[in-house]
Amino acid sequence: MPPATERPCSRSQAEQEPVAESVHEVPASEATNDETIRNATRRGMDQTYNRFSVGLLKFVKNMNIRCARPSDLMNMQHCNLLCLPENYQMKYYFYHGLSWPQLSYVAEDENGQIVGYVLAKMEEDSEDNPHGHITSLAVKRSHRRLGLAQKLMDQAANAMVETFKAKYVSLHVRKSNRAALHLYTNTLHFTISEVEPKYYADGEDAYAMKRDLAKPTFALKL
Ligand SMILES: CC(C)(COP(=O)(O)OP(=O)(O)OC[C@H]1O[C@@H](n2cnc3c(N)ncnc32)[C@H](O)[C@@H]1OP(=O)(O)O)[C@@H](O)C(=O)NCCC(=O)NCCS
Repeated sequence: MPPATERPCSRSQAEQEPVAESVHEVPASEATNDETIRNATRRGMDQTYNRFSVGLLKFVKNMNIRCARPSDLMNMQHCNLLCLPENYQMKYYFYHGLSWPQLSYVAEDENGQIVGYVLAKMEEDSEDNPHGHITSLAVKRSHRRLGLAQKLMDQAANAMVETFKAKYVSLHVRKSNRAALHLYTNTLHFTISEVEPKYYADGEDAYAMKRDLAKPTFALKL
């Protein structure tokens, strides 16, 4: 007879394992009661959810959002190449970094790897109110839906207001970019100011969008 650890567990044992934690607190005498089973299942789901949330929270807590340094620019370009069809020469990153060192931000993981960035500038030739522009924004696939893009965008917008008294911030986005459109419209309260036909090299139209930074709705949760 093989030692106990090598024995295959029975099908019923294997099936019970995931719910064992949720039902083991229920006294056997109550186990037939439907309401009790429902409560126990709910408790089990809550425990799983809590474990997941704590894990996610730890993961997010290990993320750091900080102002970009010149030494980050190559990694920002790398992240851009991974995430977007619109790419820029290195000198364009330096132009941003050297002209407006306060405005571009990176998100780094616990190992200091850059997992997201926002490349931002002020519009120079504008006779309009002072305003900023988002040149590029991306978060690596492995780190999406953690709120990093929102935080990067809020930090850049806040710096535009504090340093340059920007009244609004503008950007362009592909009409087909659902994720970015959701982020800009629903989360960051950008509005579409116009459609720019064939803005992109492949002929796709762009939405030109603006976010009013003078409104009280621009309440930063940094
Ligand atoms: C767009 C992008 C930057 C979003 O980054 P992110 O860090 O995942 O975004 P966040 O976690 O901050 O999302 C904030 C909110 O934006 C919206 N959002 C983000 N990604 C979304 C998606 N794939 N579908 C629908 N809504 C989305 C949601 O409302 C989300 O809030 P929720 O997670 O509470 O629902 C990222 O998907 C990306 O890098 N895409 C490729 C590059 C790109 O398109 N850049 C923009 C060019 S204009």
